[in-house]
Amino acid sequence: MPERRATATASPNIAFIKYWGNRDPALRLPANASLSMTLSNLQTNTTVLFDDRLEADQIEIDGSPASDKAASRVTKHLDLIRTLSGNPTFANIHSLSNFPAGAGIASSASAFAALTAAASKAAGLELDKKQLSILARRGSGSAARSIFGGFVQLFSGEVNTDGYAEQLAPAEHWHLVNLIAVVTKEHKSIGSSEGHMLAPTSSIQAIRVQDTARRLEICKKAIMQKDFQTLAQIVELDSNLMHSVMMTSDPPILYLEPESISVMKHVTRWREDGLAVCYTIDAGPNVHCICSLEDSPEVERQLRSIDGILDIYRCSPGNGVALAVTNEQSPQ
Ligand code: DP6
Repeated sequence: MPERRATATASPNIAFIKYWGNRDPALRLPANASLSMTLSNLQTNTTVLFDDRLEADQIEIDGSPASDKAASRVTKHLDLIRTLSGNPTFANIHSLSNFPAGAGIASSASAFAALTAAASKAAGLELDKKQLSILARRGSGSAARSIFGGFVQLFSGEVNTDGYAEQLAPAEHWHLVNLIAVVTKEHKSIGSSEGHMLAPTSSIQAIRVQDTARRLEICKKAIMQKDFQTLAQIVELDSNLMHSVMMTSDPPILYLEPESISVMKHVTRWREDGLAVCYTIDAGPNVHCICSLEDSPEVERQLRSIDGILDIYRCSPGNGVALAVTNEQSPQ
């Protein structure tokens, strides 16, 4: 087989209605449906080159050889693609993100969305977005959503083929701003994959999962009607519910740092004072401050006055995964 190469770019997403826990860990079928906004400005760019001369996958992430843990996750994902394409060739993978991994800015979402699109294209598979979403989910649950841009829903799915995401509204629908208050750039100690396994040990998880359809409907309606106040309340409730599950699992997981709590308290006060802003936090301490475009300069100014914020990333609704280079054959 000749060398086959493709490059894809994908962005992370922030979940407004979050999933936590998998009903089927092997297939990464989430315990509950979720809803997210794909983020502009933050990106992972991944090139995959299948090469007959390789005796194993060679994986470089952010300029260094991948750790054993990351490499085995990538290889496992490539194995799915090798099985689908019927070709066992190993690959050279280069992945570069412009934001820190593992700090609650869904790096696995952009990484596996980009990897899925690039590897399937390089392997000669012609997959539509639904198929890409199903396949990306096998690598990382939230990656299923990063296949699409704008506002996106991921169905929980009973079987592999119905665990996919679809777009609810394009990025242009509502110009929200996500100001990510970065309080640490360190890799979290407990990754989402381990956290998902612990979710069922919390007595709150079943109640959270059972009530998800209601929260998701409220959130969806708020997005379609551009109703910020309703969005703010449901987004904060959903984030607090997920962190309650994390904190009450066995062993407990506490992702929040003192600075995270400080930002949360400021955000709710600013909203009481009339600013259109709310918070949501993924599996890490960094706080995503969702705000209206009009109020975003003031929110950013106020965020800068809080101690312990190392950086602020500004994102808007962004685009789904895109292939930068279609199948090309390298010179022999
Ligand atoms: C808290 O998709 O990161 O961000 O499949 O193990 O990669 P893996 O999990 P991941 O879990 C996402 C958890 C979350 C909530 C969400 O994005 O819905």
